[in-house]
Amino acid sequence: MSSKMWGGRFSEVPSKFVEEFGAVIKVETRLCPYDIQGSMAHVTMLGETGILKAEDVELIKKGLAEVGKEIEAGKFVFNAEDEDIHMAIEKRLTEIIGPAGGRLHTGRSRNDQCCVDSYLYFRDAAKECQKLIVEIQKSLFEQAEKNFGTIMPGFTHLQVAQPVLAAHWMMAYFWMLKRDYDRLQSFLDRLVECPLGAAALAGTDFPIDRWSTAKQLGFKKPTENSIDTVADRDYCIEFASIAAMSYMHLSRLCEEIIIFASQEYKFVELSDDFTTGSSIMPQKKNCDFAELIKGRTGRMYGYLQAMLTMMKGIPLAYDKDMQEDKFLSYETIDLWQNTMKVMAPMVRKMRINAKRTYQAAAHGFSTATDMADYLVKKGMPFRDAHRVVGQTVRYCVEKDKTLEELALEEFKAQSDLFEEDIFEDISLEHSVGARKSYGGTSPEAVKVQMQNAEKFLDDAHQKLL
Ligand code: ARG
Repeated sequence: MSSKMWGGRFSEVPSKFVEEFGAVIKVETRLCPYDIQGSMAHVTMLGETGILKAEDVELIKKGLAEVGKEIEAGKFVFNAEDEDIHMAIEKRLTEIIGPAGGRLHTGRSRNDQCCVDSYLYFRDAAKECQKLIVEIQKSLFEQAEKNFGTIMPGFTHLQVAQPVLAAHWMMAYFWMLKRDYDRLQSFLDRLVECPLGAAALAGTDFPIDRWSTAKQLGFKKPTENSIDTVADRDYCIEFASIAAMSYMHLSRLCEEIIIFASQEYKFVELSDDFTTGSSIMPQKKNCDFAELIKGRTGRMYGYLQAMLTMMKGIPLAYDKDMQEDKFLSYETIDLWQNTMKVMAPMVRKMRINAKRTYQAAAHGFSTATDMADYLVKKGMPFRDAHRVVGQTVRYCVEKDKTLEELALEEFKAQSDLFEEDIFEDISLEHSVGARKSYGGTSPEAVKVQMQNAEKFLDDAHQKLL
C-alpha cells in the first residue's frame, strides 16, 4: 500500500520525477496562512455543530497554530511528495497532535479548501494592487501639480493636434488607473460568497454550518451551488483580465515616456536611476525599465489567455487542469505588483522640459483649429475657414514660419477677416485657456479635475488604511 494520504487504493506511486511534475506545493506556499485560517474556521464550525468533540477541536486548533508558527519561522519543509500545501499542513498537523489531526478534513475536500484559500489570498492581493495603483496615481498627481502651467502639444496619430496642459496629459493616466482601481473594487465586492463546504462537488452528509464558516472568514454567505463552486475559476480569469487591462495602461504610459524622452522630442527626462547606459555608445541614456514593462505586457496577456484556454474544456466539476490557476495567478500578481512598484517612483522622479514642450506645440501649428474658429466667429462657414487655415499652414511650411511669426498682411492675404486680434487667438495660452468645457484642458477645468482626483485619493486612502 502507498504511504500517500490517499494511498489506500494504490499499490504503485508516481516516480519522483512524475511527482515533481504534478506538484504545486513549492509554488503555492503563499497560501499557507490562508489555509490555516480556513482550517481554523472549519474546525471551529465542526465543534459548534457537534460533528467533532470539543477536545479534538481544541487539539486541532493548537496543532494548527503550531504548524502556522513553523511556517512563519521558515522551519516548515515543503516536499513535492505532499503534492500541495493542504496535504502538507494536514500531515504535519497529524505528526504534531496524533490521530485527531485526521479528523480535520471531515466534511470538506481539497476542492473547496483550495478555493477558500484562493479567495482569502485574492482579497489581500487585490487590496495590495489597489494600494500600488494609488501610489502611481499620486506620482502623476504630484507631477501635474508641479508642472501645472506647462503647455505641450496634444497628439492624434502622433501628429501635433492641439496644445494641452502637461498636467492634463498626466491626469489622463490618473483616470485610466482609477478605472483599474474600480474594477478591482467590483472584483472584491463580488468575492463575498464562501466556497468552503461545497466539499468535493456534491456537498456533504455531515450537518455542517456553511453560514458559520462564511461569517468567520468575513464572507457574506455561502455559495449557492456546490458543483459550480468547485468548478469555478472565474475569479482568477477576472483578476487576470483586470491586470492585463491595467498593464496595457502602464505600457502606453511607458511608450509615451520612451518617445518623449528621445533626442527628437526631449519633452521628458527620466532620472538616472531609472535609465541605463550603453556598453559601447557613451552618450546613451536608455529607458530600459519602461521598455521592459512595455515588453512584459506580452507575458501579462499570455497569463489571461492561458487561463481562459485552460478552463474552456473542463467538464464539471474539478479537474486537475485547474491547478494551473496557481502558477498563472501568482505570476500575474507578482508581475503586476512589481511593475507598479517600479512605475510609481519612475514617474515621480521624471522631469518635464517645459521649454521644449512649448516649442513643439508652437512649431506644430497646434492652434490651427483656433484660427479656424476665429474665422467662424467672424462669420465664415467652418468648411471655408478650414480651407483658409489649411492654405495658411501650407504657406507657413513653405516659408518655414510658425503661425505666430506671420505678419498681419500675410494673414490678410489669406482672408480679409483677419484683424490684429488674431495674434491673441492663436497664442498657445489662449488656445489652452479657451477650452473651458468640463474635462477640457483649460487651467480652470484641469483644476476641477484635480480637485476631484484629490477627493478620490482621500477616499481611497481611508478605505485602504
Ligand atoms: N492542489 C489542488 C489544486 O490546486 C487542490 C485540489 C485537489 N483536488 C483534487 N481532487 N485532486 O487544484
